[in-house]
Amino acid sequence: MLPYFLLLLLALLGGLAYWLLISTEGVFLGRRVVVWLYDRTAHRYDAIKEYDPADEQFLVTRPVLAALAGRANPLLLDVATGTGRVPFDLLQNPAFPGRVIGLDASRPMLAVAAAKLAPYGQRVSLVQHPAAPLPFPTARFDLVTCLEALEFFPSDEAALREMVRVLRPGGRLITTRRTGREGQLFLHRYRSPDQFTALLHRLGLAEVEMQLWEVGYDLVTARKPAAPAGDAHAA
Ligand SMILES: C[S@@+](CC[C@H](N)C(=O)[O-])C[C@H]1O[C@@H](n2cnc3c(N)ncnc32)[C@H](O)[C@@H]1O
Repeated sequence: MLPYFLLLLLALLGGLAYWLLISTEGVFLGRRVVVWLYDRTAHRYDAIKEYDPADEQFLVTRPVLAALAGRANPLLLDVATGTGRVPFDLLQNPAFPGRVIGLDASRPMLAVAAAKLAPYGQRVSLVQHPAAPLPFPTARFDLVTCLEALEFFPSDEAALREMVRVLRPGGRLITTRRTGREGQLFLHRYRSPDQFTALLHRLGLAEVEMQLWEVGYDLVTARKPAAPAGDAHAA
């Protein structure tokens, strides 16, 4: 029979491995591990998430359309698009008149997205790239979304700074904040509502609004203030 201290050590190591690889999805081990874990689960990601089409129109498409406020032919960037959740939800809805670029670091996640999005042709492009720095010019997008992903980036602040940079003045950001006990498992990386709001203000965003969203997440929207008259990047 194993001595008690050995059993205790095994239990501790098992708990540590669970926390590192499952609860926090590799974020304390670096970007390569996070992306490797998504590479390995890409083929069953949608089956695990079981997104319901009607819920998705309410949770994703509705806030996006509200943020676009009737803008003609908008260009949207979805950071950490995964299997293409945001472009897929939007492009199915005839009320969305724009184009979407989906960016993600995981090639297998993007391969699943590409198969789902094939019917939408030129209205969607997929780019394999890390979230920071972003490979796009400043003030390029009308709207930037980043759902259920900030907590897995090496630095949420660096990624958000890049999202703000590529937003046009007057454009909006829609993102999520991890909440509750699961959020606090991210230790010092966890941000309370006040801390998250302060970060967005520090990055130059205004009109920050936070609301309960999916289990474990708040939905956060904010606006990049319009440029002063005469600024070449103004919309
Ligand atoms: C939980 S999934 C969310 C996917 C999608 N936004 C959704 O809501 O279904 C997190 C995604 O973040 C991507 N990801 C993780 N770290 C990344 C990084 N540093 N840069 C770009 N993508 C990253 C993963 O590959 C994965 O597709």
